Amino acid sequence: MADKPWGGRFGEATDRRVEEFTESISFDRRLFEHDVRGSIAHAQMLAKVGLITDDECRQIARGLTEIRDEIAAGTFPFVLEREDIHMHIEAALIDRIGDVGRKLHTARSRNDQVVTDVKLWTRDALDQVDARLKALQVSLVNAAARHEGMILPGYTHMQRAQPVLATHYFLAYVEKYERDRSRLADCRKRLNVLPLGAAALAGTTLPIDRQHVADNLKFDDVARNSLDVSSDRDFLIESLFVLTMIAEHLAGWAEEWVIWSTQEFSFVALPDKLCTGSSIMPQKKNPDVLELIRGRSARVIGSLTTLLVLVKGLPLAYNRDLQEDKEPLFSAFDTVDSCLDLAALLVDGASLRGDRISARIDEGYLDATTLMEYLIKQGVPQRTGHEIVGHLVGLAEKRGGRLADLSEDDFRAAHPKLDGAVKQSLGVVNAVNAFQSYGSTAPAQVAKQLADWKTRLGLA
Ligand code: ARG
Repeated sequence: MADKPWGGRFGEATDRRVEEFTESISFDRRLFEHDVRGSIAHAQMLAKVGLITDDECRQIARGLTEIRDEIAAGTFPFVLEREDIHMHIEAALIDRIGDVGRKLHTARSRNDQVVTDVKLWTRDALDQVDARLKALQVSLVNAAARHEGMILPGYTHMQRAQPVLATHYFLAYVEKYERDRSRLADCRKRLNVLPLGAAALAGTTLPIDRQHVADNLKFDDVARNSLDVSSDRDFLIESLFVLTMIAEHLAGWAEEWVIWSTQEFSFVALPDKLCTGSSIMPQKKNPDVLELIRGRSARVIGSLTTLLVLVKGLPLAYNRDLQEDKEPLFSAFDTVDSCLDLAALLVDGASLRGDRISARIDEGYLDATTLMEYLIKQGVPQRTGHEIVGHLVGLAEKRGGRLADLSEDDFRAAHPKLDGAVKQSLGVVNAVNAFQSYGSTAPAQVAKQLADWKTRLGLA
C-alpha cells in the first residue's frame, strides 16, 4: 500500500473493483489547471510562514508547472490507482522532486483542496458564461436594430393578443439574459470565499496564513468555519440554478422559433447552414439546432436536480458522496456554453419575414384593446368598454372582416362616443402608436430602450 498516500494503516491492497468504483480521475482531471494553481498558492503560503523553505517552494512550483504542461499536452500518464487528479498531481510531484514534494500536502486535506479547485473552476466557468451571455445580448440588440419598424403580433396563450414592435420583442430576451447575468454576478460573490486551510474538517495546528492564499487566488474573503467548508456545495447548486434559468430562457425562445419556422407561421427564416435535412424527404429543412437547444435544457435541469438530491441529508462534514458533484457541474456548463454560442449564431443569421408577418397582421383583432382604451379615454368605464368592443369584435367576425371594416353606423350604434375619430385607433400601426406607458411597446419607449442597450453593451 506504499503507493497510496493513505496506505500506512492498511494491511492489504485495495480491491480492483473498489478502485474502479471509487475513482474520479476519469472526470476530475478537468480540474488540473486549477489544482496546480491552488497548490502553488498553498506552497507559497507554506514558505511565507516558514513551514517550507523558499527553495523548496520554488522546486514545488516548478514541478507543478511542468506537470500541468504535461497534462495539457496530453502526455501525462493517468492510472486508476491514483484515484483522483489531486493524488495524481501530488504523486507525480513526488516522483519528480522526491521528499520536497512530500511536504506540499502540509496543513491541507483533499477535502479543502477539492472544494477550492471546484470553486476556482466554477468561477472561471461563470466568467465564461457571462461573456457568452453578453455576446448573445449583442446579437439580440443587433437583431432588434435590424428589425426596427416591423410590427409583430404579440401572443398570450399562443393566441393573438396585441401588436408589438419586433425591436421590443428582441429586447425582451435581452432583459431575461440581463437578469441571468446579474444572478451570475451575485452567485459569484458568494462563491468567492476561500475554503483552503479548513484542512480535513477542523482546521490545522500549524501556523498557516489563509489570507495570503486568498489574496494569491483572488478570493474576496476567507471561510470562517472549517466544518462548514468541507461540506459546502451551496455555490454549486446556486451556479447550476443560474445555468438552469439560462437553459429555461433558451428553451422557451427555441420553442417559439421552432413554431415560427413552420410553414403555417413562416415568421422566421433560418439560413441553410444552421439547419439540417431529412434522409428520406428531400424538401425538408429542419430547425434541429433550435430543437436541441430546447432538448438540452433537460440535461441542465437534471444536473441541478442531481446536486440538490446529492447534498440533501448529508451530515457534517465531508462525505464521499460529494465526489459526485463534478459530472453534473461539467455537463451543465458544457451544455449551456454551447447552447449560448449556437443561440447567438442563430440570432445573427435569422431574419423575421416582414412580408409573411404583415400579410396576416390584420387578423386576430390585435387592435381591440386599443379601441377599448380609446373608450376609457372618452370616459367610459373599463368593464363597459370591454363589453362594447367584445360585441364589435363579434360583429366583425361574423362578417369576416377587421374592426376597421365596420361602418360608422356600426360604431355609433355600439356607443355614441364612437364617432369618426375612432378610426385613428384602429389597425396595428395606430394601435402601436397609441401606447404610452413606461416599458410598453410605444415606438418612442422602444427606441429609447434600444439606444440604452446599445450604450450599455458598448455598441453605440
Ligand atoms: N476525489 C475526492 C472528491 O472528489 C477527493 C476528496 C476525497 N477525500 C477523502 N477524504 N477521501 O471528492
